[in-house]
Amino acid sequence: MAEIQVRAFAKVNITLDVLGKRDDGFHNMKTIMQTVGLYDEITIRPDQPWQITCNIGFLPTDEKNIAVRAAKLFLAHTGIKSAGLKMDIFKRIPICAGLAGGSADAAAVLLALNEYYGCPIGKDALLAMGRELGSDVPFCMISGTALAQGRGDELTMLSPMPSCFMVICKPAFPISTPALFVKLDLSHIVLRPDTMGTIAAIKEKDIAQIGHRMFNVFEDIAADEHDEIRRIKGILLDNGASGAVMTGTGPSVFGIFDHKNKAENAFESLKGSYQDTFFVEI
Ligand code: C5P
Repeated sequence: MAEIQVRAFAKVNITLDVLGKRDDGFHNMKTIMQTVGLYDEITIRPDQPWQITCNIGFLPTDEKNIAVRAAKLFLAHTGIKSAGLKMDIFKRIPICAGLAGGSADAAAVLLALNEYYGCPIGKDALLAMGRELGSDVPFCMISGTALAQGRGDELTMLSPMPSCFMVICKPAFPISTPALFVKLDLSHIVLRPDTMGTIAAIKEKDIAQIGHRMFNVFEDIAADEHDEIRRIKGILLDNGASGAVMTGTGPSVFGIFDHKNKAENAFESLKGSYQDTFFVEI
């Protein structure tokens, strides 16, 4: 029985700006996205009767799960006659966390099935399928360091982030992405990230300057409702992070560090209070 095993990597937003509302109800974004070494593991057995399992009991295993939608979309698009598919999703990326966990799973499923079936779908058409599933899916398919514009799906690859250490921490509450977009008052955004300055700092591999510019227009709105976002950010900075910011629509906050021992200290300071604390190297 053929078995495919893939990893689905999370992302963080180094900067995140929202430029305006679009006619299709989505918002135009300008955000620098970075893949990180925190991943889910997905095992797929193609052409088996449908059966989806997941280590997180409350996650849906029907089409409400974006990874299942990705598999069905792929089979429908290609017209591949399949008895179904067995899929086992082992989640490590926290859910509703601003880390694109669901999008990462969907991206991994599309890439894995396309490869397994001999690449019946070209790169652009596969990215279009990703876009259909969610705004972050195309980035998760490409991965690396990229500027995302439009809905978040118009991607320009950037120089890779310099080697650094990252601590990611998700407080126990979730934040709804659509709800936070609704709370964002576009006419009153006073502070915005210096996206171009951050891109230049990434190119120069200047961790201090990247850290200094990390900024997310959603952070204050979320932090005004949830003190813990500022608390986590404070702990990261107190431990010597070059910068710390909420990722996506939160509530996860991450810090970047130039030295491993600083990141390890931050990790230890947070881990006791926050189960979903992760240490990764870029
Ligand atoms: O594309 P995705 O399904 O991830 O988006 C979830 C929700 O986030 C959308 O329904 C929308 O409310 C909001 N969103 C947005 N503009 C974007 C991306 C997401 O308004 N560029």
